[in-house]
Amino acid sequence: MIPVLARTRLGLAAARRGLRSPVVLVPTMGALHEGHRALLRRAREISQPNGSVVVSVFVNPLQFGPTEDLARYPRTLDADLVMCAEEGVAVVFAPGPAQMYPREQMITIDPGPMGQVLEGASRPGFFTGVLTVVQKLFHLVKPDEAVFGEKDAQQLALVRRMTEDLDLGIGITGVPTVRDPGGLAVSSRNAYLSAEERTTALVLPAALRAGVEAAGTGPDAVLKAARALLDEAAHAQPPLVTDYLALVDPGTFAQVGTGYAGRAVLLAAVKTGSTRLIDNMPLVLGGAI
Ligand code: PAF
Repeated sequence: MIPVLARTRLGLAAARRGLRSPVVLVPTMGALHEGHRALLRRAREISQPNGSVVVSVFVNPLQFGPTEDLARYPRTLDADLVMCAEEGVAVVFAPGPAQMYPREQMITIDPGPMGQVLEGASRPGFFTGVLTVVQKLFHLVKPDEAVFGEKDAQQLALVRRMTEDLDLGIGITGVPTVRDPGGLAVSSRNAYLSAEERTTALVLPAALRAGVEAAGTGPDAVLKAARALLDEAAHAQPPLVTDYLALVDPGTFAQVGTGYAGRAVLLAAVKTGSTRLIDNMPLVLGGAI
């Protein structure tokens, strides 16, 4: 199937009118990789037998800080369209910034306390930018369902919470992280890594795995096992610089204490060279659930 390419709101509205339900939206910033392919496939499954998949491709300036990589973020629309065609996408909405933000965005979404910690603390304004654009995309595309990657665990939790708190009536599905053969979570930003930085970066999933393996001995052991590998990699060449390592409740993103039992997410953000990477792994503590 060759997807309809809509570059404007009007073009999207025209294409949307011809779509059969359920309409499933996959919001992306483009530079589609195998992680996105998994999202498209899940969206296709949800839309079966008669529904349609819409993919948005928009590098959202509102979620980039002044010193972040907005200008150099990869933009590969032709290749993105090929993947969308392969995966049976009906419509690709790829607006320019002036279509999404025709004037200054005065009203934005406040992500609340869950948006202030971890990624929100390291990247001020990030989740306001994400939730605002997601809300706008929801209004423009009018999907029944939307699909997001579990790699961005905090983003997924915030989108779910926004959808519930603001009664948006859109089903949210999370798709497990796709990893390359070395274990590195597939990400558009992996393209920035040199061969040496990639070797250093592999410590990130290894540390999370070590943490997950310690789940039987409690939260402190999980953090200690993961921290040991991250600390060691601080002396690698090039070094791994850890921004945060945390063990949180997946619903609230509050850090879990020593006696916690139940589902949790172990997550970390690191930097090697000038590339910042995030990753996470789910686990169950205390043998409960
Ligand atoms: O995860 C992303 O690619 C972006 O944060 C999203 C959800 C498309 C919003 O710009």
